[in-house]
Amino acid sequence: MSEPSTPLPAGLFITFEGIDGAGKSTHIAGLAEAFRLQGRSVTLTREPGGTPLAEKLRALVLGEAMDPLTESLLVFAARRDHLLNVIEPALARGDAVLCDRFTDATFAYQGGGRGFDLATLSVLERWVQTTPAVRAPAIRQPDLTLWFDLPAEIAAARLADARAPDRFEAQPVAFFRRVAAGYAARAEAAPQRFARINADQPRERVWQDIVDTFARRGWWPGTPVAPGGSH
Ligand code: TMP
Repeated sequence: MSEPSTPLPAGLFITFEGIDGAGKSTHIAGLAEAFRLQGRSVTLTREPGGTPLAEKLRALVLGEAMDPLTESLLVFAARRDHLLNVIEPALARGDAVLCDRFTDATFAYQGGGRGFDLATLSVLERWVQTTPAVRAPAIRQPDLTLWFDLPAEIAAARLADARAPDRFEAQPVAFFRRVAAGYAARAEAAPQRFARINADQPRERVWQDIVDTFARRGWWPGTPVAPGGSH
């Protein structure tokens, strides 16, 4: 029998969700920094996007008018490419994968916002997130989803000064109310995976809530590693 090899630290798949204007970007960057300072490899990525093909699909989804089924198929096509070429290899290496949006956004935006059929989205979710690394019938899902929850009216006020809006940012407040309800339904269906972050607070308080969420799971990257210990 050969010597057992040193086990890799388990990969961690963390996604960040919320309506446009919820303020997740700075916190994603802060978390990436905290993990790196701890010596952990980080893959920082986003959806739609994250690969050359998926970024092309992103430009189409954000820029071209299309019906909700076409929109859903394109975001899931981008996701399949991203999952197989970036996310799964990074998890196999033991990276912390920090992904700005994932399938919950499809349920919230296409399902909630556009009113597209949730059963069809569930079928696409199962097809796309069935990967060789995960034993069926399970599918690849994030280990943790930070949901930045913010009333649609406040998000709209924050976005009012923003650069030229894309096809989603240009939607009325009523659209974002439906998106927020879509997120709430996903969170209710997967309470273990979701952590709701109250995004209607000063930035430092939001950050502290994120730190507490990670600490509760024993994942806070600032936790000192015992001398001579691995991960
Ligand atoms: P963002 O990366 O700037 O947040 O923009 C991505 C936009 O795309 C955002 O408005 C949400 C939207 N989106 C969907 O409609 N469906 C999806 O599945 C994803 C990942 C994003």
